[in-house]
Amino acid sequence: MPDSRVPRPRRFLVCEPRHFAVQYAINPWMHPDHHVDPGLAHGQWQALIRAYRAHGHTVDVVDPVSDLPDMVFAANCALVLAGRVFGSYFLAPQRRPESLAYESWFKTAGFDVYRPASVCEGEGDLVPVGDYVLAGTGFRTTREAHHEVQEFFGVPVVSLQLVDPRFYHLDTALFVLDDGKGGGEANIAYYPEAFSPGSREVLTRLFPDAVIATREDAMTFGLNSVSDGRHVFISPRATALADQLDRHGYAPVPVDLSEFHKAGGGIKCCTQEIRS
Ligand code: ARG
Repeated sequence: MPDSRVPRPRRFLVCEPRHFAVQYAINPWMHPDHHVDPGLAHGQWQALIRAYRAHGHTVDVVDPVSDLPDMVFAANCALVLAGRVFGSYFLAPQRRPESLAYESWFKTAGFDVYRPASVCEGEGDLVPVGDYVLAGTGFRTTREAHHEVQEFFGVPVVSLQLVDPRFYHLDTALFVLDDGKGGGEANIAYYPEAFSPGSREVLTRLFPDAVIATREDAMTFGLNSVSDGRHVFISPRATALADQLDRHGYAPVPVDLSEFHKAGGGIKCCTQEIRS
């Protein structure tokens, strides 16, 4: 089975963590008294970019803006499907200016950007897989935004209720192993307890063969991973999950973003996928 997993090259957008810091607390991981080591953070981030490029992926880099310490979390800026950009509207006032900064990158790169009318934090809560967009709500992105996403893309949106504040974005509790766009069957990995009972049932129904992660996997940001269909860029701390992925024929590529965990983010949070 391992050799049957086929990677597909991706185009990623990232933001250099030049101004990254923990200056406010908008999720339970953030403590303004927790010092971030800027040199270590930068080195960890560069290792992620090197790993993407070494595996054949294209990486575009947006310029960071000073006073926007969370701008490194590029996943939150948009959802891009078939070259169409659904922008962001952050819940926290501290992060709101990020939307415009990313919008101008997209415009310069030749994309129009749709501005959502309700709170919507991009790929943090919007996860395309197979014929659907899985959409988290409960802490950040609203159900009104899910509706807007469905109207904008014309793709069925499946709303999922998040219930644990540690897993405040969908991408902290679930990631796509195979998006189903390259011949493989669409599949995900997730931590069930992050979801309401009804949403858990929905996930079981849609993905009966999903990889089920433990709380430990989730707490070490193991579900904030990026897969190209074969290689899974994953926190080296999520050892049980990496073993499971290995048994399922995926190739874990460990990348440690521990400095970013202090802000409640990991690999996926730092990565926006531009789907053409
Ligand atoms: N400190 C950021 C926030 O709370 C972290 C964002 C992480 N991004 C993500 N896609 N989960 O908004």
